[in-house]
Amino acid sequence: MENRIATEIAGLKLANPTMLAAGILGYTGLSMKSVIEAGAGAVVTKTMGLEPRTGYPNPTVVQTNCGLLNAMGLPNPGIRHFKEELNKLKNTRAPTILSIYGSSPEEFANVAEIAVNIGADALELNVSCPHVKKAGAEIGCDPLLLAEIVKEVKKRVDIPVIVKLTPNVANIGEIAKSAEEAGADAITAVNTVKAMAIEIETCRPILANKFGGLSGPAIKPIAVRCVYDVYRSVNVPVIGCGGITSWQDAVEFMLAGASAVQIGTAVAFKGVGVFNSVAKGIQDYLERKGFKNVKELVGLAHKF
Ligand code: SIN
Repeated sequence: MENRIATEIAGLKLANPTMLAAGILGYTGLSMKSVIEAGAGAVVTKTMGLEPRTGYPNPTVVQTNCGLLNAMGLPNPGIRHFKEELNKLKNTRAPTILSIYGSSPEEFANVAEIAVNIGADALELNVSCPHVKKAGAEIGCDPLLLAEIVKEVKKRVDIPVIVKLTPNVANIGEIAKSAEEAGADAITAVNTVKAMAIEIETCRPILANKFGGLSGPAIKPIAVRCVYDVYRSVNVPVIGCGGITSWQDAVEFMLAGASAVQIGTAVAFKGVGVFNSVAKGIQDYLERKGFKNVKELVGLAHKF
């Protein structure tokens, strides 16, 4: 069978266009290895910062009837302590994209430099966590600060720099353009949607942080719209993320303009087999429709 799903994004070679999204199974080398062995084309780690960070107290995750609501608070061991985990991925076939955060251009660039030294193949700048103060979406809502961060990181590293955007903005195309002009090699659209849940017997917000980020099928149409908007605003590749649970979802994101797709919440509900089933479904669809390569799908919906 002719391989129609191998692809390339910002210089990263992918056996197929599926990636593990940041935030799930991305804390250890072994868990990411199991995702690669299950068929993912690339993995994105849990977001790492300069120093270890405990995150928020429990509860940090709530299951709603349409997806997961989480507010972990960016817990991580600190980027330097992640080297041992990345070493376990050295001989795997899929690129490792290190998700990083910081609260200033200088801090982002320092984390980025360490990420390169410990073996990252690419970086994903998390400027989109919807609830951590002085980081995440506070940056991703400000096109000028975002541009400064991207420029500083690009000055200090020579691996691909991907910027993960928040859907919680009025004009995502404008933010994407600002990241592209500052040197971003690709854009991931999108992180979670800011949301909350309240327990009616105790009358209290459920998450310890009160607000969190909603992921899963509920946000898919929002994410498809964001990918569509970003695709028509920039010339760098777009990576779709938000509620992808089947090959049909992946194809929809590609038609909107995604060159690859990230899968997160579906891994929690369906297990790591989801990567293979999405990749195989895309391959079968391409064959059935007569497309020679997955790249031919990207952005097709813009013709109408
Ligand atoms: C978290 O750690 O709370 C989630 C991170 C994110 O939404 O980017």
